[in-house]
Amino acid sequence: MEMRVDFKLADMIRVGSSRLAGLMCLAVLGVAQAAPPADQMARGEKIFTEKCALCHQPNGAGVPPVYPPLVHSEWLGTKRDGAVKALSEGLSGPVDVAGLHFDNLMPAQILDDQQVADVLTYAGNSWGNENAAFTADEVRAGRSKSRFPTYEKLVESAEYRPLPAAPSGFTVREVAKSPEFLTRLAMDPVRKTIYALAQLGSVYVLDMSAGGFVQMIKASDYLEMDKGDLATMGMTVDAQGRLWVVSNQKRTESVPHQNEVVIWRSSETVDGHPAKLQPWLRTRYPYGVGPYNHGVSHLAFGPDGMLYVNSGSRTDGGEPGNDPERSTGGEVDITACLWRLDPRAEQPKIEVYARGIRNAYGFAWDDAGDLFTFSNGPDYSAPEEMDFIQQGRHYGFPYQFADWPVKPGFPYAHTPPPPPGLEFTPPVVNLGPAGGGSAAGLSTFDAHSSPGGSIWCGGDFPPVLRGSFLVTRFGNLLGPPAAPDDVGFDLLSVRVDKGAAPHLTAKVTTVLAPLARPLDVLSIGRGRVLILEYTRPIDFKSKTGWLPGRVLELAPIQ
Ligand code: HEC
Repeated sequence: MEMRVDFKLADMIRVGSSRLAGLMCLAVLGVAQAAPPADQMARGEKIFTEKCALCHQPNGAGVPPVYPPLVHSEWLGTKRDGAVKALSEGLSGPVDVAGLHFDNLMPAQILDDQQVADVLTYAGNSWGNENAAFTADEVRAGRSKSRFPTYEKLVESAEYRPLPAAPSGFTVREVAKSPEFLTRLAMDPVRKTIYALAQLGSVYVLDMSAGGFVQMIKASDYLEMDKGDLATMGMTVDAQGRLWVVSNQKRTESVPHQNEVVIWRSSETVDGHPAKLQPWLRTRYPYGVGPYNHGVSHLAFGPDGMLYVNSGSRTDGGEPGNDPERSTGGEVDITACLWRLDPRAEQPKIEVYARGIRNAYGFAWDDAGDLFTFSNGPDYSAPEEMDFIQQGRHYGFPYQFADWPVKPGFPYAHTPPPPPGLEFTPPVVNLGPAGGGSAAGLSTFDAHSSPGGSIWCGGDFPPVLRGSFLVTRFGNLLGPPAAPDDVGFDLLSVRVDKGAAPHLTAKVTTVLAPLARPLDVLSIGRGRVLILEYTRPIDFKSKTGWLPGRVLELAPIQ
């Protein structure tokens, strides 16, 4: 999955030399400003608190290297057109602010011209900043040069998609709109409470009947937000109601840079909810060679009571990379594999359960206790694969991509030769009709379709789904011109035929489409499932896209 695009966080700070110059420049500009109108400041403060403080902080200091400061920001003085444009259409990629370097993204802010003027005036004249007030006219003129030339166009682009058509015998409804970007859903198996994990660490309770999220754990309560880019993508709840969350943090205090992985476990219960996350396992490996640091994501308890963990690859396809600050050595012992951990251990040891799995954002067990992973193939055009996982086996990555015929030198010139004697277990073959299918000669799913979370449909599901897996496909818009471009964006049913071993096959059908970047699916009983849409529109080329999505429910008609 090209999580790299969507989960891209700042690519680390290099403290620039121009901080002093920036300050002096501001001081000169600031001298003769008339104080902005008090009512505009008051309106701006309110908007700031609601819309901006989460990232830029109540004191405007930001959280370097992730969120830039507004204090001493030249974007509110000499680069004010840039600030208007940033709020009007969002901002991503490398930027310099007050002598510091950032490379992250800010979603477009759904504010009208007057509101943008108010909030920028407030930021431009607080915490020691002194700048001329922004007017609605200035904002209107600036916005007209942005991707969404009017406020109305921006609002239009940010709307949620209409609900996809429900399959016969089911209904689909929106349960709640996400408060921020969410990556994972989990349910307490005893209390049946539903939790949602944010990409930046906070944990929410989903109130199914009121249709809202309530923050339960704040990211800054347990994570050191200022130590490097964070991504949290895995969460589960055990039979005792304890919450398990895994975080990835880019650490750059030494070379080569590291990915620090921590599995957190709740240590208390407060008001019936897990609380106080404590580190249970802490480990590091060299951060990805390029943009492909997939990190550690899915956590789930197997039928054996052990905790299984997906550790994604640190390369696209085994390439060495050339960043002098990063380790260039390809995959390491604990990447591109599944771990198995003993949850009873106080000092858990990582046991690699199976290898050669590029990035299984989703995996699940069937009724027979057999484990299947759904993983993302390399960026060029290798297929995405579903594998029947058995302990100790190797599933090919980075030597063999699915059951693709290996063509030396093309298109993965860097693909390392397999160690002598290493045998690979082939993936499940997709017999179609949906999701790719064998017509394309590939297993298991279309290239770039990015399988996400998956579940097994047990006895509580209606016959049409019972005994199959459901898997979300996040979708991708990155395909090279020759490849199918916009694939995925759906929920598939995958029915495996184990009789065909060792080349297992599956019939794949579409359950829901199109969905807006569905990233996870959760079974909540009586055949009902929740689907987590990461964002709103599908087409990032013409829409904002960078706004948090929602949770849908697919339920059988009783
Ligand atoms: C989700 C976090 C987030 C929110 C919410 C947010 N920003 Fe930003 N903002 C960022 C990031 C990250 C950048 C830098 C983007 C990059 O690296 O390309 C940024 C950049 C900026 C900049 C230009 C750089 C600077 O620091 O001066 C301004 C001005 C700004 N934001 C103002 C605002 C205002 C005003 C609001 C509220 C209406 C807001 N932002 C809401 C994350 C956020």
